[in-house]
Amino acid sequence: MEAIGVELGKRSYDILIGFDCLPGLGEAMKERGLASDNVAVITSPRIGGLYYDTVEGALHEAGITSVGRWDVPDGEENKSLDNFAAAVRWLARFAPDPSIEPAVVTLGGGVIGDLGGFAAASFRRGVPYVQVPTTLLAAVDSSVGGKTAVNLPEGKNLVGAFYQPRLVYVDLGTLRTLPEREVRSGMAEVIKYGAILDADLFQFLEESVEEALGLEAAVLTRIVSRCVELKAEVVRQDELDRAHVRVCLNFGHTLGHAIEKAADGRLTHGESVAVGMVAAARMSVASGLCEAEVEARLRDLVVRAGLPVRAEGVELERVLAFMAHDKKFIAGRNRFVLLSDIGRWVEREGVPTDLVRRAAREAIS
Ligand code: NAD
Ligand code: GLY
Repeated sequence: MEAIGVELGKRSYDILIGFDCLPGLGEAMKERGLASDNVAVITSPRIGGLYYDTVEGALHEAGITSVGRWDVPDGEENKSLDNFAAAVRWLARFAPDPSIEPAVVTLGGGVIGDLGGFAAASFRRGVPYVQVPTTLLAAVDSSVGGKTAVNLPEGKNLVGAFYQPRLVYVDLGTLRTLPEREVRSGMAEVIKYGAILDADLFQFLEESVEEALGLEAAVLTRIVSRCVELKAEVVRQDELDRAHVRVCLNFGHTLGHAIEKAADGRLTHGESVAVGMVAAARMSVASGLCEAEVEARLRDLVVRAGLPVRAEGVELERVLAFMAHDKKFIAGRNRFVLLSDIGRWVEREGVPTDLVRRAAREAIS
């Protein structure tokens, strides 16, 4: 397996990446002192139905006696305070002995990882947890870096904590059961890493995006490992998202989030981010930050990944209204992550409104 470290002093941890390696999870936890007598697996009916038995077997094989399962219903709408409360109340019943510290394993995509991570952060003021991501998005992004949260009716991710996992264990073989549309959506975040941070990764994607989408083991392992290395370095530099480094991961997300909301569920997160990235590249060219070729290469790769470059039928005024409420804007002043080249990002504040409006209009027509 590939092993990548996230260097955060006492909160450092490994990310292990392999193919069909789920049966080794218990041993990997044991090696890191995470084989508590009580291991609580937080998953969903769909994902647990596919992989819980393997995980349970792997934990038993490592000598863990008591393994329990809690299911959070599938879907973003279930990343809620109510489901968080149900999960921590189950943890209280599953691990009632205060002398035994349980460990939590989150088995699933970003929804399960975010909610389960927040449950681990809060239960008894924090117990160790292991992220086992089962979507491409979770493998390259949400499982790494310790952002945990649930949504409120008032907004997304409004309640949460920075709480680092003790291990991230990626079995890329689990992506075989992921719907193809979800694989493509995750590929948008993969392309993002190349576009903002690594021209070589971007070029490798240009050479091999079809193989990656076909889950070709060597290609996918190389790509995911590189994305994870890049994220680990960003998190090392700016764990709490305050040092204007982690912000780079928002490339394509400012307009992308607004389009996602205005599309009322017709577009996935990754599809909206794809549209947002191409629009941000167009804004970069229009601002004189980079050559037109940068936008052209990004657009071509997005198309080859089977992702949209525009979101037709979405209302411009709604997109602009949602964007105006972006939490990253300061006192109404907009902030965008733009490109000065493939692999090089810049943060820009106060981008002229007519430029933003034009980019948004072109993104939806
Ligand atoms: P998701 O967790 O909703 O999973 C997508 C769908 O795929 C679900 O229906 C799930 O049941 C199913 N699924 C998952 N793995 C499967 C598998 N191997 N086989 C078959 N089906 C499977 O979506 P996601 O894209 O993984 O995550 C999105 C969430 O991640 C959002 O809530 C977002 O806010 C969060 N996120 C968090 C961070 C972070 O830093 N914490 C970063 C990015 C995104
Ligand atoms: N996905 C954004 C972050 O981890 O900061």
